[in-house]
Amino acid sequence: MIVLQNISKSFPSEGGGSVEAVRNVSLRVGKGEIQGVIGFSGAGKSTLVRCINLLERPDAGEVFVGGVELTALSDGDLRAARKKIGMIFQQFNLFASRTAWGNVAYPLQYSMTRADRAEKVAALLRLVGLEDKGDAYPSQLSGGQKQRVAIARALANEPSVLLCDEATSALDPQTTLSILRLLKELNVKLGLTIVVITHEMQVVKEICDRVAVMENGEIVEEGDVFSVFAAPKKQITRDFIDTTSNLSKIHALIAERSPLVRLKPGERIVRLRYVEKNVSEALISTISRKFDVNANIIFGDIEFLGGAPIGGLIIIVSGQEDRIESALSFLRSRNVSVEVISDEPDRRAA
Ligand SMILES: Nc1ncnc2c1ncn2[C@@H]1O[C@H](COP(=O)(O)OP(=O)(O)O)[C@@H](O)[C@H]1O
Ligand SMILES: [Mg+2]
Repeated sequence: MIVLQNISKSFPSEGGGSVEAVRNVSLRVGKGEIQGVIGFSGAGKSTLVRCINLLERPDAGEVFVGGVELTALSDGDLRAARKKIGMIFQQFNLFASRTAWGNVAYPLQYSMTRADRAEKVAALLRLVGLEDKGDAYPSQLSGGQKQRVAIARALANEPSVLLCDEATSALDPQTTLSILRLLKELNVKLGLTIVVITHEMQVVKEICDRVAVMENGEIVEEGDVFSVFAAPKKQITRDFIDTTSNLSKIHALIAERSPLVRLKPGERIVRLRYVEKNVSEALISTISRKFDVNANIIFGDIEFLGGAPIGGLIIIVSGQEDRIESALSFLRSRNVSVEVISDEPDRRAA
């Protein structure tokens, strides 16, 4: 549905040089997919997404949406093509002087009879769960309600693509979840293709089918969400994933010398991560039995992503040195990623 081919975009910088906001990025988003783009502030996400509807014209590269090369269109044709690409923003961008009704009706003002428009706006407000808020002004609405109005307005021209630039970043976690659920519902109900820009991995985990990780203007990793979570290739991706898992708390526990993670000589703290779908073997009891080692689970974080278990465990393994090695090799052979986090005994515990 969306094809970006070798997109680059630079801006003049203050010192007189230039900033390469997007560097040679290629990305394909299939019809009906929800594509996440994650990265830290300044990574180039907003510039990239604005290149999809040519709010920013790329310096190089081609943009196709629905098979049409937008970068080759005349201004008039581009204006028409843009109607099929909706967009929502972090700050909602509603007209403060118009009611919810007036905001949603705005894109339809020249294209319909008054009666058709009234019917359409009512349907859109219903679609986002705001049928009783038509007369409210933005100042009378909560953040979540404002974003619902913005979504209804973005859908007025029945776009095939919805671009969301940090659409939930100004919202609390509960409201974020309700907006993400609404986006997912629209994706399913309308077959809407959605691009979600975010700096929060939780958002990606919640609704995206695929994710692209951006760093310094480039996509450094891309894949279906399960594979990226199960086997991240880049450190930045691992860091983002850690923000959604309690497993990373282990480092804080070690730093504060918590009694939970104090090691005796020969013991090791190990992080296990499932890297393949359908891992069902009771691996922990298997290694205890098979290798005569003790595996003490410190904490676990296993959840379901796209119907498959993902996550892992932090365990302390104790036993004979060579038996521990064999146990860890065995786990690796069962497609579990094994990372020894610490093997330093706490002298005070000895
Ligand atoms: N209109 C602009 N003029 C000058 N520099 C810009 C402009 N838009 C973005 N940039 C620069 O491009 C880089 C990427 O910005 P942006 O796409 O907004 O990143 P993100 O959305 O990931 O935070 C940043 O260094 C930013 O300062
Ligand atoms: Mg941005």
